[in-house]
Amino acid sequence: MSKLIVNGGKRLSGRLKLQGAKNSVLPVLAATILCNNACEIHNCPSLSDVETSLKILSHLGALCTKEEDVVTVNPENIDSFEIPDSLMREMRSSIVFLGAILGRMKRAVISSPGGCELGPRPIDLHLLSLEKLGAIIREDHGFLYCEAPNGLKGTEINLSFPSVGATENIILAAATAEGKTVIHNAAKEPEVSDLADFLNSAGAKICGSGSDTIEIHGVKQLHGVNHTIIPDRIAAATYMAAAAITGGEIELENVMPSHLISVLSVFKEAGCTVLVDGKKISLRAASQLSRVPTVRTIVYPGFPTDAGPILIAMLSHAKGTSVFVENIFENRYKYTEELKRLGAKIKTEGKVAVIEGVEKFSAANCECTDLRGGAALVIAALAAEGETKISKIEHILRGYDDIAGNLRKLGADIKVV
Ligand code: EPZ
Repeated sequence: MSKLIVNGGKRLSGRLKLQGAKNSVLPVLAATILCNNACEIHNCPSLSDVETSLKILSHLGALCTKEEDVVTVNPENIDSFEIPDSLMREMRSSIVFLGAILGRMKRAVISSPGGCELGPRPIDLHLLSLEKLGAIIREDHGFLYCEAPNGLKGTEINLSFPSVGATENIILAAATAEGKTVIHNAAKEPEVSDLADFLNSAGAKICGSGSDTIEIHGVKQLHGVNHTIIPDRIAAATYMAAAAITGGEIELENVMPSHLISVLSVFKEAGCTVLVDGKKISLRAASQLSRVPTVRTIVYPGFPTDAGPILIAMLSHAKGTSVFVENIFENRYKYTEELKRLGAKIKTEGKVAVIEGVEKFSAANCECTDLRGGAALVIAALAAEGETKISKIEHILRGYDDIAGNLRKLGADIKVV
């Protein structure tokens, strides 16, 4: 298993072009299933989750290629409706393929996506919504057998929680369903809007994405499109935190600052200078990071749960005590045990984490527990004197495109072995 070796203590500075958003490219790849002909997706990050998605599409019968950051998917010959268990297990978010397969094939067989490192990841909202659209879903020995013999029919759906994945699955299933679907209490994340933009350019009729009420008028068919994936707002927060924790500076290009307003305010509260200019964000670290009294994670446009581990790692190095409240996932603090090996002083109790800033981190061996927790370890290691070994980095490679190469561009001493 590969590891990351980090020799910390170096001040990072420089410029980076940001990768495309993992949480946008995954549902967009699923959406190609609904198209009649080839799609070209630009600004596609090189991630293991993207590779897994392309394996799923190929398994269904699509022809997929990836050249640099351009992915092409030709869905014309898709003739299967089953995702093999092995591929479902590789990527929890493959549940988002369910709505698209159902929309095209009128049936689907998938295995229940395993829980993940963030605690149980129920899919009740996904299944309830698809049933409301006319799907019949039977669970048997961990497999979900779904069918909609008379096709899917539009309806009103009220989500008890604005689930990102469930909103995306409903949009995918409703895009070519008969009639109108209205989603109340829909997720407003930018990645949902990027999916709607992709589908609308393919001929769908979706309005209201980005708000909590989304209307989808089903259409008969969708054609292939060229689409550019939005920048990854969580990767942006990650590289900014790397510069901030090492007392450095960074200029990020190809960013959407409007997607990061709640995150930028935390960097500013911690004493960093943050400038926004069109699609660029530049950050200069405070000479000494200061505590941020309380950060609460919440759905968009509030502070994103995925940026929690990243800012907790950074604020572990601040002067004073910060408090985080994680309101989205039940168990998102596993990585803090590993952060403590590097010298962080963090107490967690249920949803709350109390972070007592420390002067210095010390290098240690640690292991990733999940994607963003792994990113948190990298950020802390960059500020730890000496050599830190980070194992189980396959978690990190799911969501970050060449994180070591990008950090080396900024002056970090980091390599994958
Ligand atoms: C998406 O996950 C992202 N993943 C997550 O990013 C992100 O943390 C999350 O949205 C919240 O923003 C992708 O887009 C691939 P949810 P998703 O459905 O769709 C509960 C990362 O690090 N829930 O909004 O799974 C669920 O248990 C990943 O990039 C139900 O109870 O998130 C959780 O507590 C991590 N029943 C909460 O809702 C359901 O049917 C939020 O889940 C669905 C969700």
